[in-house]
Amino acid sequence: MLIAGTHTTVLTIDLFVSQLIAHPEAFEKARDEIDNHVGDSRLINDADLANLPFLHGTISETLRFGPVKVLPAHESSEDCTVRGYHIPRGTQLFVNAWAIHSDPELWIEPDRFKPERFLIQSEKEKGGFKFIPFGLGRRVCPGEGLGMRVMALSLGTLIQCFEWEEVKEDQKKAEERHVKIIFRPREALAKTLLSAGTDTSAAIIEWANSLLLNHPAVLNKGRADLDNYDIGHDRLLVDEPDLAKLPYIDPKLNKQDTAIVSSSATSSAT
Ligand code: HEM
Repeated sequence: MLIAGTHTTVLTIDLFVSQLIAHPEAFEKARDEIDNHVGDSRLINDADLANLPFLHGTISETLRFGPVKVLPAHESSEDCTVRGYHIPRGTQLFVNAWAIHSDPELWIEPDRFKPERFLIQSEKEKGGFKFIPFGLGRRVCPGEGLGMRVMALSLGTLIQCFEWEEVKEDQKKAEERHVKIIFRPREALAKTLLSAGTDTSAAIIEWANSLLLNHPAVLNKGRADLDNYDIGHDRLLVDEPDLAKLPYIDPKLNKQDTAIVSSSATSSAT
């Protein structure tokens, strides 16, 4: 499960980056979409994904170009007939997804990278079983939903936060189709990126711990909040959804952490 999930996702992310480097107009559209819906004061999150159809279009178009060219072999468990062909039991079947994804009978200009085709589909491109990057049927990839979300979040973050620049390599490497990219933080996002970093979370936790030790009244109120909360019999530790029901602790973590931190540092215990 881990290998099936990580390798394919990484391959697709890799291919996506090289496709967007080669198609700056698609990159700009994806970035405009994120800037319009998310802005630069926070990072893209799971709830934004439904509002980012072009980003999804670029991922689908990358998948059409095929990180997975041929689906893993399937074997018929019984004799069957497909379109008049007799398939004996035990026959191995390979589906050439790449050929289906590049078929001019099924796609308009199949060789062109056009994310828009997944937004406004022409009659020719609508329906059917021609887009199969995750396979089909009983053995379809069970990680499709997760994979799409992980890719949309990772790639969306890369587009939102970084300027992408291709490093021009010498001719030999170019012939090997070796692409090297530098990601530089976008100026407009620098503050957001900094405050979103893990270092800052660790620093705030450390700071909050020392403040709580110095302000036992606050600690006791927080503990009372927890003691009065019925966590149920099947768990020992609180989880994220519990926070909404912890009125004293929740606002301190979510809204007022900086206010508390700075005011408690100078004033006496609340
Ligand atoms: C871009 C991401 C991904 C792509 C392109 C992809 C693609 C595929 C394909 C083509 C298959 C074979 C389907 C068939 O046999 O017809 C497959 C199977 C599978 N995938 Fe994925 N996958 C991705 C992400 C994931 C993730 C995130 C997970 C798990 C967390 C996952 C777990 C699996 C498993 C367990 C199978 C085997 C299913 C079976 O044989 O019944 N995949 N995937």
